[in-house]
Amino acid sequence: YKDLKPFPEGFLWGASTSAYQVEGAWDEDGKGMSLQDLHEPPAGVTDFKVASDHYHHVEEDVALMAELGLKAYRFSISWSRVVPDGFGEPNEAGLAFYDRLIDALVAHGITPVATMFHFDLPLAVHERGGWANRESIDAFERYARLIFARYGDRVKHWLTINEQNVMVIHPNAMYPAAMGVLPEKRDLYQQSHNMFVASAKATLLLHQMWPDAKIGPAPNITAIYPATCDPADVVAADNWESIRCWNYLDVACFGRYNPIAWAYMVEKGVAPEFAPGDAELLAAAKPDYLGVNYYATATVAAARNDGTDCAPRAGDQQVMLGEEGVYRSATNEHLTATEYGWIIDPVGMRTTLRRVASRYGLPILITENGLGARDELTADGHVHDPYRIDYLRRHFEQAQLALTDGVDLIGYCPWSFMDLVSTHQGYGKRYGFVYVDRGEDDIRSLARIPKDSFAWYRHVIETNGAEL
Ligand code: BG6
Repeated sequence: YKDLKPFPEGFLWGASTSAYQVEGAWDEDGKGMSLQDLHEPPAGVTDFKVASDHYHHVEEDVALMAELGLKAYRFSISWSRVVPDGFGEPNEAGLAFYDRLIDALVAHGITPVATMFHFDLPLAVHERGGWANRESIDAFERYARLIFARYGDRVKHWLTINEQNVMVIHPNAMYPAAMGVLPEKRDLYQQSHNMFVASAKATLLLHQMWPDAKIGPAPNITAIYPATCDPADVVAADNWESIRCWNYLDVACFGRYNPIAWAYMVEKGVAPEFAPGDAELLAAAKPDYLGVNYYATATVAAARNDGTDCAPRAGDQQVMLGEEGVYRSATNEHLTATEYGWIIDPVGMRTTLRRVASRYGLPILITENGLGARDELTADGHVHDPYRIDYLRRHFEQAQLALTDGVDLIGYCPWSFMDLVSTHQGYGKRYGFVYVDRGEDDIRSLARIPKDSFAWYRHVIETNGAEL
Protein backbone atom coordinates (compact mmCIF):
# COMPACT_ATOMS: atom_id res chain seq x y z
CA TYR A 1 0.00 0.00 0.00
CA LYS A 2 1.13 3.57 -0.62
CA ASP A 3 -1.01 4.80 2.22
CA LEU A 4 -2.11 2.89 5.25
CA LYS A 5 -5.55 3.55 6.59
CA PRO A 6 -5.21 5.24 9.98
CA PHE A 7 -6.73 3.60 13.04
CA PRO A 8 -10.27 5.01 13.16
CA GLU A 9 -11.44 7.60 15.68
CA GLY A 10 -12.84 5.83 18.72
CA PHE A 11 -10.68 2.74 18.14
CA LEU A 12 -10.86 0.67 21.32
CA TRP A 13 -7.24 0.47 22.43
CA GLY A 14 -7.68 -1.87 25.34
CA ALA A 15 -6.27 -4.64 27.45
CA SER A 16 -7.67 -7.94 28.74
CA THR A 17 -7.76 -10.12 31.81
CA SER A 18 -10.05 -12.82 33.18
CA ALA A 19 -11.61 -13.09 36.63
CA TYR A 20 -9.90 -16.15 38.07
CA GLN A 21 -6.51 -15.18 36.68
CA VAL A 22 -6.40 -11.77 38.42
CA GLU A 23 -8.94 -11.47 41.19
CA GLY A 24 -7.84 -13.79 43.99
CA ALA A 25 -10.25 -13.58 46.95
CA TRP A 26 -11.35 -17.02 45.85
CA ASP A 27 -13.55 -17.63 48.90
CA GLU A 28 -14.29 -14.12 50.13
CA ASP A 29 -17.56 -12.25 50.53
CA GLY A 30 -19.69 -15.25 49.76
CA LYS A 31 -18.02 -16.33 46.52
CA GLY A 32 -18.74 -19.95 45.58
CA MET A 33 -16.00 -22.20 44.27
CA SER A 34 -15.30 -22.58 40.59
CA LEU A 35 -13.49 -25.43 38.87
CA GLN A 36 -10.38 -23.26 38.80
CA ASP A 37 -10.30 -23.17 42.58
CA LEU A 38 -9.52 -26.90 42.52
CA HIS A 39 -6.09 -26.29 41.00
CA GLU A 40 -3.38 -27.73 43.16
CA PRO A 41 -0.09 -26.26 42.16
CA PRO A 42 2.28 -28.92 40.90
CA ALA A 43 5.90 -27.84 41.07
CA GLY A 44 6.29 -24.35 39.70
CA VAL A 45 2.65 -23.74 38.88
CA THR A 46 0.80 -21.27 41.04
CA ASP A 47 -2.79 -21.74 42.11
CA PHE A 48 -5.41 -19.06 41.60
CA LYS A 49 -6.33 -18.31 45.18
CA VAL A 50 -4.53 -14.97 45.45
CA ALA A 51 -3.66 -14.46 41.77
CA SER A 52 -2.91 -10.71 41.38
CA ASP A 53 -5.24 -9.79 44.23
CA HIS A 54 -7.16 -7.50 41.90
CA TYR A 55 -10.21 -7.95 44.13
CA HIS A 56 -8.47 -5.86 46.78
CA HIS A 57 -6.68 -3.50 44.38
CA VAL A 58 -9.47 -2.70 41.99
CA GLU A 59 -9.46 1.10 42.32
CA GLU A 60 -5.65 1.25 42.11
CA ASP A 61 -5.70 -1.01 39.05
CA VAL A 62 -8.30 1.07 37.24
CA ALA A 63 -6.32 4.22 38.05
CA LEU A 64 -3.35 2.58 36.28
CA MET A 65 -5.57 1.73 33.31
CA ALA A 66 -6.48 5.41 33.14
CA GLU A 67 -2.81 6.38 33.33
CA LEU A 68 -2.13 4.01 30.45
CA GLY A 69 -4.88 5.79 28.54
CA LEU A 70 -6.94 2.67 27.90
CA LYS A 71 -10.11 3.22 25.90
CA ALA A 72 -11.46 -0.25 26.78
CA TYR A 73 -10.91 -2.90 29.40
CA ARG A 74 -11.94 -6.47 28.77
CA PHE A 75 -12.51 -8.43 31.97
CA SER A 76 -14.67 -11.39 32.87
CA ILE A 77 -17.34 -11.76 35.50
CA SER A 78 -16.92 -14.73 37.81
CA TRP A 79 -20.24 -16.59 37.67
CA SER A 80 -19.61 -18.21 41.07
CA ARG A 81 -18.85 -14.84 42.66
CA VAL A 82 -22.23 -13.44 41.73
CA VAL A 83 -24.23 -16.71 41.95
CA PRO A 84 -22.26 -18.85 44.41
CA ASP A 85 -23.98 -22.15 43.59
CA GLY A 86 -24.43 -21.31 39.92
CA PHE A 87 -28.15 -21.92 39.95
CA GLY A 88 -29.66 -20.12 42.88
CA GLU A 89 -29.55 -16.91 44.82
CA PRO A 90 -27.37 -13.99 43.81
CA ASN A 91 -24.57 -12.81 46.09
CA GLU A 92 -24.90 -9.08 46.69
CA ALA A 93 -21.28 -8.60 47.82
CA GLY A 94 -20.03 -10.25 44.64
CA LEU A 95 -22.30 -8.14 42.48
CA ALA A 96 -21.12 -5.03 44.31
CA PHE A 97 -17.50 -5.81 43.41
CA TYR A 98 -18.25 -5.55 39.68
CA ASP A 99 -20.23 -2.35 40.33
CA ARG A 100 -17.08 -0.87 41.82
CA LEU A 101 -15.00 -2.03 38.88
CA ILE A 102 -17.47 -0.85 36.23
CA ASP A 103 -18.14 2.48 37.96
CA ALA A 104 -14.42 3.16 38.20
CA LEU A 105 -13.97 2.33 34.50
CA VAL A 106 -16.85 4.56 33.44
CA ALA A 107 -15.60 7.38 35.68
CA HIS A 108 -12.30 7.24 33.77
CA GLY A 109 -13.97 7.08 30.37
CA ILE A 110 -12.86 3.46 29.81
CA THR A 111 -15.35 1.28 27.92
CA PRO A 112 -16.09 -1.90 29.89
CA VAL A 113 -16.08 -5.09 27.79
CA ALA A 114 -17.45 -7.92 29.93
CA THR A 115 -16.96 -11.62 29.22
CA MET A 116 -19.68 -13.74 30.79
CA PHE A 117 -17.73 -16.97 31.16
CA HIS A 118 -13.97 -17.51 31.01
CA PHE A 119 -13.11 -21.12 31.97
CA ASP A 120 -14.30 -20.76 35.60
CA LEU A 121 -17.41 -22.94 35.74
CA PRO A 122 -19.11 -22.82 39.17
CA LEU A 123 -18.22 -26.02 40.97
CA ALA A 124 -21.88 -26.55 41.86
CA VAL A 125 -22.78 -26.51 38.17
CA HIS A 126 -20.03 -28.99 37.44
CA GLU A 127 -21.28 -31.26 40.21
CA ARG A 128 -24.66 -31.45 38.53
CA GLY A 129 -23.13 -32.53 35.25
CA GLY A 130 -21.59 -29.27 34.04
CA TRP A 131 -22.30 -28.05 30.54
CA ALA A 132 -23.39 -31.56 29.52
CA ASN A 133 -26.49 -31.09 31.67
CA ARG A 134 -29.04 -28.92 29.90
CA GLU A 135 -30.02 -27.40 33.25
CA SER A 136 -26.79 -25.43 32.89
CA ILE A 137 -28.28 -23.64 29.91
CA ASP A 138 -31.13 -22.35 32.08
CA ALA A 139 -28.72 -21.50 34.89
CA PHE A 140 -26.60 -19.50 32.44
CA GLU A 141 -29.66 -17.70 31.18
CA ARG A 142 -30.66 -16.74 34.73
CA TYR A 143 -27.10 -15.57 35.39
CA ALA A 144 -27.25 -13.58 32.14
CA ARG A 145 -30.50 -11.92 33.18
CA LEU A 146 -28.99 -11.02 36.54
CA ILE A 147 -25.83 -9.40 35.19
CA PHE A 148 -27.55 -7.72 32.23
CA ALA A 149 -30.12 -6.18 34.60
CA ARG A 150 -27.45 -5.10 37.05
CA TYR A 151 -24.76 -3.76 34.70
CA GLY A 152 -26.54 -3.23 31.37
CA ASP A 153 -26.94 0.51 31.95
CA ARG A 154 -23.14 0.88 31.92
CA VAL A 155 -21.84 -2.17 30.03
CA LYS A 156 -22.68 -1.99 26.33
CA HIS A 157 -20.10 -4.50 25.08
CA TRP A 158 -20.55 -8.13 26.11
CA LEU A 159 -18.79 -11.35 25.16
CA THR A 160 -20.56 -14.63 25.79
CA ILE A 161 -17.97 -17.40 26.21
CA ASN A 162 -14.21 -17.19 26.07
CA GLU A 163 -12.51 -19.77 23.83
CA GLN A 164 -15.28 -22.34 23.64
CA ASN A 165 -13.22 -24.07 20.95
CA VAL A 166 -10.20 -24.35 23.23
CA MET A 167 -12.35 -25.99 25.93
CA VAL A 168 -13.25 -28.68 23.37
CA ILE A 169 -9.78 -29.16 21.89
CA HIS A 170 -7.85 -28.79 25.15
CA PRO A 171 -10.34 -29.71 27.89
CA ASN A 172 -7.75 -29.01 30.54
CA ALA A 173 -8.44 -25.31 29.85
CA MET A 174 -11.44 -25.76 32.12
CA TYR A 175 -10.72 -28.96 34.05
CA PRO A 176 -7.86 -28.87 36.57
CA ALA A 177 -5.43 -31.78 36.44
CA ALA A 178 -6.42 -32.60 40.03
CA MET A 179 -9.74 -33.88 38.72
CA GLY A 180 -8.07 -36.77 36.96
CA VAL A 181 -9.84 -38.16 33.93
CA LEU A 182 -11.03 -35.67 31.35
CA PRO A 183 -14.44 -35.99 29.66
CA GLU A 184 -14.73 -38.07 26.49
CA LYS A 185 -14.75 -36.24 23.19
CA ARG A 186 -18.41 -37.08 22.64
CA ASP A 187 -19.23 -35.42 25.93
CA LEU A 188 -17.13 -32.37 25.07
CA TYR A 189 -19.02 -31.82 21.82
CA GLN A 190 -22.32 -32.09 23.70
CA GLN A 191 -21.05 -29.57 26.26
CA SER A 192 -20.06 -27.31 23.42
CA HIS A 193 -23.49 -27.63 21.81
CA ASN A 194 -25.13 -26.67 25.08
CA MET A 195 -22.78 -23.68 25.32
CA PHE A 196 -23.91 -22.61 21.83
CA VAL A 197 -27.53 -22.78 22.94
CA ALA A 198 -26.75 -20.91 26.18
CA SER A 199 -24.93 -18.21 24.20
CA ALA A 200 -27.83 -17.90 21.78
CA LYS A 201 -30.24 -17.44 24.68
CA ALA A 202 -27.99 -14.80 26.25
CA THR A 203 -27.68 -12.99 22.91
CA LEU A 204 -31.45 -12.86 22.42
CA LEU A 205 -31.96 -11.80 26.02
CA LEU A 206 -29.47 -8.93 25.86
CA HIS A 207 -31.02 -7.63 22.66
CA GLN A 208 -34.41 -7.72 24.30
CA MET A 209 -33.27 -6.05 27.55
CA TRP A 210 -30.79 -3.56 26.11
CA PRO A 211 -31.33 -2.97 22.38
CA ASP A 212 -28.41 -0.51 22.36
CA ALA A 213 -25.90 -3.11 23.67
CA LYS A 214 -23.66 -5.41 21.64
CA ILE A 215 -22.72 -9.03 22.21
CA GLY A 216 -20.59 -11.64 20.47
CA PRO A 217 -18.50 -14.76 21.04
CA ALA A 218 -14.74 -14.77 21.74
CA PRO A 219 -13.18 -17.94 20.32
CA ASN A 220 -9.48 -18.49 19.71
CA ILE A 221 -9.11 -18.11 15.95
CA THR A 222 -6.10 -18.61 13.76
CA ALA A 223 -5.33 -19.18 10.11
CA ILE A 224 -4.12 -22.73 9.52
CA TYR A 225 -1.39 -23.12 6.90
CA PRO A 226 -0.82 -26.19 4.73
CA ALA A 227 2.73 -27.48 5.17
CA THR A 228 3.18 -27.59 1.37
CA CYS A 229 1.13 -26.92 -1.74
CA ASP A 230 0.46 -30.66 -1.99
CA PRO A 231 -3.36 -30.61 -2.43
CA ALA A 232 -3.67 -33.23 0.32
CA ASP A 233 -1.99 -30.84 2.76
CA VAL A 234 -4.34 -28.06 1.63
CA VAL A 235 -7.33 -30.26 2.47
CA ALA A 236 -5.78 -31.07 5.86
CA ALA A 237 -5.37 -27.35 6.63
CA ASP A 238 -8.91 -26.69 5.52
CA ASN A 239 -10.16 -29.56 7.70
CA TRP A 240 -8.46 -28.30 10.77
CA GLU A 241 -9.44 -24.66 10.19
CA SER A 242 -13.09 -25.69 9.83
CA ILE A 243 -13.07 -27.98 12.87
CA ARG A 244 -10.97 -25.78 15.13
CA CYS A 245 -12.14 -22.32 14.10
CA TRP A 246 -14.99 -21.80 11.62
CA ASN A 247 -17.37 -24.18 13.32
CA TYR A 248 -17.55 -21.90 16.35
CA LEU A 249 -18.11 -18.72 14.38
CA ASP A 250 -20.48 -20.41 11.89
CA VAL A 251 -22.83 -21.53 14.65
CA ALA A 252 -22.73 -18.06 16.23
CA CYS A 253 -23.15 -16.11 12.97
CA PHE A 254 -25.02 -18.43 10.60
CA GLY A 255 -26.95 -20.37 13.24
CA ARG A 256 -25.80 -23.74 11.90
CA TYR A 257 -22.80 -26.02 12.23
CA ASN A 258 -19.99 -25.80 9.73
CA PRO A 259 -20.61 -28.63 7.21
CA ILE A 260 -17.00 -29.85 7.20
CA ALA A 261 -16.87 -29.87 11.00
CA TRP A 262 -20.26 -31.58 11.22
CA ALA A 263 -19.19 -34.35 8.84
CA TYR A 264 -16.08 -34.82 10.98
CA MET A 265 -18.17 -35.09 14.17
CA VAL A 266 -20.45 -37.64 12.55
CA GLU A 267 -17.48 -39.65 11.25
CA LYS A 268 -15.88 -39.68 14.71
CA GLY A 269 -19.18 -40.50 16.44
CA VAL A 270 -19.14 -37.30 18.49
CA ALA A 271 -21.94 -35.25 16.88
CA PRO A 272 -24.09 -33.62 19.58
CA GLU A 273 -27.80 -34.15 20.10
CA PHE A 274 -30.17 -31.29 19.44
CA ALA A 275 -33.17 -30.78 21.72
CA PRO A 276 -36.40 -29.57 20.11
CA GLY A 277 -36.10 -25.82 19.49
CA ASP A 278 -32.27 -25.70 19.48
CA ALA A 279 -31.96 -25.22 15.73
CA GLU A 280 -34.45 -22.33 15.80
CA LEU A 281 -32.69 -20.67 18.73
CA LEU A 282 -29.29 -20.91 17.07
CA ALA A 283 -30.72 -19.46 13.88
CA ALA A 284 -32.46 -16.59 15.68
CA ALA A 285 -29.55 -15.27 17.75
CA LYS A 286 -27.21 -12.94 15.86
CA PRO A 287 -24.00 -11.51 17.29
CA ASP A 288 -23.25 -7.82 16.77
CA TYR A 289 -19.49 -8.20 16.62
CA LEU A 290 -16.85 -10.90 16.98
CA GLY A 291 -14.16 -11.20 19.60
CA VAL A 292 -11.03 -12.88 18.28
CA ASN A 293 -8.28 -14.22 20.53
CA TYR A 294 -5.22 -14.58 18.33
CA TYR A 295 -1.84 -15.87 19.45
CA ALA A 296 -0.28 -18.12 16.84
CA THR A 297 -0.91 -19.79 13.52
CA ALA A 298 -0.54 -23.51 13.03
CA THR A 299 0.88 -25.41 10.10
CA VAL A 300 -0.43 -28.84 9.26
CA ALA A 301 -0.05 -31.66 6.76
CA ALA A 302 -2.19 -34.57 5.63
CA ALA A 303 -2.31 -37.46 8.08
CA ARG A 304 -2.58 -41.14 7.27
CA ASN A 305 -5.80 -42.91 8.19
CA ASP A 306 -4.10 -45.39 10.51
CA GLY A 307 -2.94 -42.82 13.05
CA THR A 308 0.71 -43.79 12.71
CA ASP A 309 2.00 -40.37 11.74
CA CYS A 310 0.11 -37.85 13.84
CA ALA A 311 1.21 -38.25 17.43
CA PRO A 312 3.28 -35.32 18.69
CA ARG A 313 7.00 -35.99 18.32
CA ALA A 314 9.92 -34.77 20.39
CA GLY A 315 11.28 -31.59 18.81
CA ASP A 316 7.98 -30.66 17.17
CA GLN A 317 7.77 -26.94 16.61
CA GLN A 318 4.28 -26.74 18.05
CA VAL A 319 2.47 -28.77 20.63
CA MET A 320 -0.55 -29.72 18.58
CA LEU A 321 -2.61 -32.81 18.57
CA GLY A 322 -2.76 -34.43 15.19
CA GLU A 323 -5.69 -36.65 14.34
CA GLU A 324 -5.72 -39.67 12.09
CA GLY A 325 -7.11 -38.98 8.65
CA VAL A 326 -7.60 -35.28 9.49
CA TYR A 327 -4.26 -33.51 9.92
CA ARG A 328 -0.88 -33.75 11.56
CA SER A 329 1.19 -30.85 12.81
CA ALA A 330 4.18 -29.75 10.76
CA THR A 331 7.08 -27.35 11.20
CA ASN A 332 6.94 -23.93 9.57
CA GLU A 333 10.51 -22.96 8.83
CA HIS A 334 9.53 -19.32 8.29
CA LEU A 335 8.48 -18.82 11.88
CA THR A 336 10.09 -18.83 15.29
CA ALA A 337 8.57 -19.38 18.71
CA THR A 338 8.58 -17.73 22.13
CA GLU A 339 10.53 -19.23 25.00
CA TYR A 340 7.31 -21.07 25.84
CA GLY A 341 7.09 -22.56 22.37
CA TRP A 342 4.27 -20.36 21.05
CA ILE A 343 4.71 -19.53 17.37
CA ILE A 344 5.21 -15.81 16.64
CA ASP A 345 3.39 -14.81 13.48
CA PRO A 346 2.23 -11.19 13.15
CA VAL A 347 1.41 -11.60 9.45
CA GLY A 348 -0.70 -14.61 10.40
CA MET A 349 -2.86 -12.25 12.42
CA ARG A 350 -3.53 -10.16 9.31
CA THR A 351 -4.45 -13.31 7.40
CA THR A 352 -6.68 -14.48 10.24
CA LEU A 353 -8.51 -11.13 10.44
CA ARG A 354 -9.01 -11.06 6.66
CA ARG A 355 -10.49 -14.55 6.68
CA VAL A 356 -12.85 -13.75 9.55
CA ALA A 357 -13.93 -10.51 7.86
CA SER A 358 -14.52 -12.23 4.51
CA ARG A 359 -16.59 -15.01 6.04
CA TYR A 360 -18.75 -13.07 8.49
CA GLY A 361 -18.68 -9.37 7.54
CA LEU A 362 -18.99 -8.27 11.16
CA PRO A 363 -16.92 -5.80 13.20
CA ILE A 364 -14.01 -7.51 14.95
CA LEU A 365 -12.50 -6.79 18.34
CA ILE A 366 -9.17 -8.45 19.05
CA THR A 367 -9.93 -9.70 22.54
CA GLU A 368 -6.52 -11.28 23.22
CA ASN A 369 -3.02 -11.30 21.79
CA GLY A 370 0.25 -10.98 23.64
CA LEU A 371 3.57 -12.37 24.70
CA GLY A 372 4.20 -14.51 27.76
CA ALA A 373 7.75 -14.06 29.04
CA ARG A 374 9.81 -14.35 32.21
CA ASP A 375 10.01 -10.62 32.94
CA GLU A 376 12.39 -9.56 35.66
CA LEU A 377 12.28 -6.62 38.01
CA THR A 378 15.83 -5.27 37.68
CA ALA A 379 17.98 -3.51 40.24
CA ASP A 380 16.97 -0.10 38.84
CA GLY A 381 13.38 -0.82 39.92
CA HIS A 382 12.15 -1.21 36.33
CA VAL A 383 10.99 -4.02 34.12
CA HIS A 384 12.60 -3.79 30.70
CA ASP A 385 10.54 -5.76 28.20
CA PRO A 386 11.69 -4.64 24.75
CA TYR A 387 10.71 -8.09 23.39
CA ARG A 388 7.06 -7.39 24.29
CA ILE A 389 7.17 -3.96 22.65
CA ASP A 390 8.65 -5.54 19.54
CA TYR A 391 6.04 -8.30 19.54
CA LEU A 392 3.11 -5.93 19.95
CA ARG A 393 4.46 -3.35 17.49
CA ARG A 394 4.72 -6.01 14.80
CA HIS A 395 1.18 -7.18 15.51
CA PHE A 396 -0.22 -3.62 15.58
CA GLU A 397 1.40 -3.02 12.17
CA GLN A 398 -0.39 -6.05 10.81
CA ALA A 399 -3.65 -4.91 12.41
CA GLN A 400 -3.29 -1.64 10.51
CA LEU A 401 -2.63 -3.54 7.30
CA ALA A 402 -5.76 -5.59 7.96
CA LEU A 403 -7.73 -2.37 8.46
CA THR A 404 -6.34 -1.10 5.18
CA ASP A 405 -7.32 -4.40 3.57
CA GLY A 406 -10.91 -3.61 4.52
CA VAL A 407 -11.32 -5.44 7.83
CA ASP A 408 -13.74 -3.65 10.17
CA LEU A 409 -11.45 -3.78 13.18
CA ILE A 410 -12.95 -1.84 16.08
CA GLY A 411 -10.37 -2.41 18.78
CA TYR A 412 -7.40 -4.30 20.13
CA CYS A 413 -7.15 -5.66 23.67
CA PRO A 414 -3.73 -7.22 24.26
CA TRP A 415 -3.40 -9.96 26.84
CA SER A 416 -2.90 -8.80 29.48
CA PHE A 417 -3.38 -5.53 31.32
CA MET A 418 -1.33 -6.70 34.29
CA ASP A 419 0.60 -9.81 35.19
CA LEU A 420 -1.68 -12.67 36.11
CA VAL A 421 -1.61 -16.41 36.56
CA SER A 422 -1.16 -18.20 33.27
CA THR A 423 -3.68 -20.96 32.66
CA HIS A 424 -1.10 -23.71 33.14
CA GLN A 425 2.32 -22.17 33.52
CA GLY A 426 2.12 -20.22 36.74
CA TYR A 427 2.98 -16.65 37.61
CA GLY A 428 6.43 -16.72 36.06
CA LYS A 429 4.90 -16.55 32.59
CA ARG A 430 3.99 -12.88 32.50
CA TYR A 431 1.96 -11.04 29.88
CA GLY A 432 1.16 -7.70 31.50
CA PHE A 433 1.91 -4.06 30.82
CA VAL A 434 2.03 -3.81 34.60
CA TYR A 435 4.36 -6.00 36.61
CA VAL A 436 2.92 -7.40 39.83
CA ASP A 437 5.43 -8.04 42.56
CA ARG A 438 4.82 -11.63 43.50
CA GLY A 439 6.60 -14.89 42.88
CA GLU A 440 5.33 -18.35 42.17
CA ASP A 441 4.74 -19.31 45.79
CA ASP A 442 5.84 -16.10 47.43
CA ILE A 443 3.12 -13.45 47.50
CA ARG A 444 5.54 -10.55 48.30
CA SER A 445 4.20 -6.96 48.18
CA LEU A 446 1.87 -7.32 45.19
CA ALA A 447 3.02 -3.81 44.21
CA ARG A 448 2.08 -2.70 40.70
CA ILE A 449 5.04 -1.53 38.59
CA PRO A 450 4.46 -0.30 35.02
CA LYS A 451 6.86 -1.98 32.60
CA ASP A 452 8.63 -0.29 29.69
CA SER A 453 5.87 -1.61 27.44
CA PHE A 454 3.39 0.44 29.49
CA ALA A 455 5.04 3.74 28.49
CA TRP A 456 5.32 2.57 24.89
CA TYR A 457 1.65 1.52 24.70
CA ARG A 458 0.55 4.79 26.31
CA HIS A 459 2.24 6.66 23.48
CA VAL A 460 0.62 4.38 20.89
CA ILE A 461 -2.78 5.16 22.38
CA GLU A 462 -2.05 8.91 22.66
CA THR A 463 -1.23 9.03 18.96
CA ASN A 464 -4.14 6.71 18.09
CA GLY A 465 -1.66 4.31 16.56
CA ALA A 466 0.03 6.89 14.32
CA GLU A 467 3.33 6.26 16.13
CA LEU A 468 3.90 2.60 16.84
C1 BG6 B 1 -6.00 -17.71 26.19
C2 BG6 B 1 -6.89 -17.62 27.39
O1 BG6 B 1 -6.11 -18.98 25.68
O2 BG6 B 1 -4.64 -17.56 26.34
C3 BG6 B 1 -6.28 -16.93 28.58
O3 BG6 B 1 -8.14 -17.04 27.07
C4 BG6 B 1 -4.83 -17.35 28.71
O4 BG6 B 1 -7.04 -17.24 29.72
C5 BG6 B 1 -4.08 -16.91 27.46
O5 BG6 B 1 -4.19 -16.87 29.86
C6 BG6 B 1 -2.61 -17.23 27.51
O6 BG6 B 1 -2.43 -18.60 27.75
P1 BG6 B 1 -1.51 -19.15 28.93
O7 BG6 B 1 -1.73 -20.61 28.92
O8 BG6 B 1 -0.14 -18.73 28.62
O9 BG6 B 1 -2.04 -18.51 30.19
